[in-house]
Amino acid sequence: MAYWRDQPETSALACRLKTRAPLAHALADLYDSGHKSASNISAMYEALDWSDDNCPRSPRFNDVYRSRSGGLQQAQTVFLNGCHLPQQWQNRRQFSILETGFGLGLNFLLTWSAWAADAQRCDTLHFVSIEAYPVAPEDIVRSVQSCLASAKDTAAAHLLQQAEQLAQQWQHLHAGIQTFALAAGRVQLTLAVGEVQPMLAQLDCVADAVYLDGFNPRLNPQMWSPATIAAVRLRCRPGTVLATYSAAANVRNALKNAGFSVRRRPGLPPKWHRLEACLE
Ligand SMILES: C[S@@+](CC[C@H](N)C(=O)[O-])C[C@H]1O[C@@H](n2cnc3c(N)ncnc32)[C@H](O)[C@@H]1O
Repeated sequence: MAYWRDQPETSALACRLKTRAPLAHALADLYDSGHKSASNISAMYEALDWSDDNCPRSPRFNDVYRSRSGGLQQAQTVFLNGCHLPQQWQNRRQFSILETGFGLGLNFLLTWSAWAADAQRCDTLHFVSIEAYPVAPEDIVRSVQSCLASAKDTAAAHLLQQAEQLAQQWQHLHAGIQTFALAAGRVQLTLAVGEVQPMLAQLDCVADAVYLDGFNPRLNPQMWSPATIAAVRLRCRPGTVLATYSAAANVRNALKNAGFSVRRRPGLPPKWHRLEACLE
């Protein structure tokens, strides 16, 4: 079950939050009913199933958060390589990545790690991610621990320190848009806590790269719908690169209809293909 925290001044609202609705929905309800202090409520976290430790699962969507080939391998191959990183950000002042589906933050943490290791990195990395059902900070740390323990994922231990830094800031998470400053402010994480389409409409960013990372499109269609892809496209510029693990025909078509040129590339098992795209 999801659990929630409230602060003393918001306890009168707490019973309204003990629902399985996402935090953003619960807060929207509270605003509608006139409780303007609802933004003081710090978090209601999404439940995860850890029974298969290497592949945490969402009971809500009945899908895994990452590839069975390994979470870090997926982040590297599908998202970083798929968006031609680190080359794309090299020798630039700022680089912005937009992600749909923050989940356990593994893509973000590996991107931060690749940026930190790159001598030619951009001055500032801005990572903007949307998440309707934020997990608990403990789960972000546990996710990295389980990747590091897995024989398939051999990333350096500094990922764990990064996860711990992120988890500390996560304690202040609230519905809506917020930015966390990491790496002395050179890595900015903007988290939009809420439903993907309204959050995309509210964000004010121009993405240089996009990670599309909802659950399986059959189980999580809102994250991949033509309307969502069109809203992502509005946050892009000509030349924006995009990557995703899904090569489903409806995803390819939605990207093409939104003006992206799309290429199928060899996927990570058990997937045959993944996608790389670029806005014309
Ligand atoms: C595959 S997981 C993302 C994994 C993540 N990128 C990582 O690196 O750990 C998909 C995420 O999309 C989120 N999600 C699903 N439907 C959503 C929606 N309609 N709006 C916003 N987020 C959604 C889920 O809660 C989940 O965290």
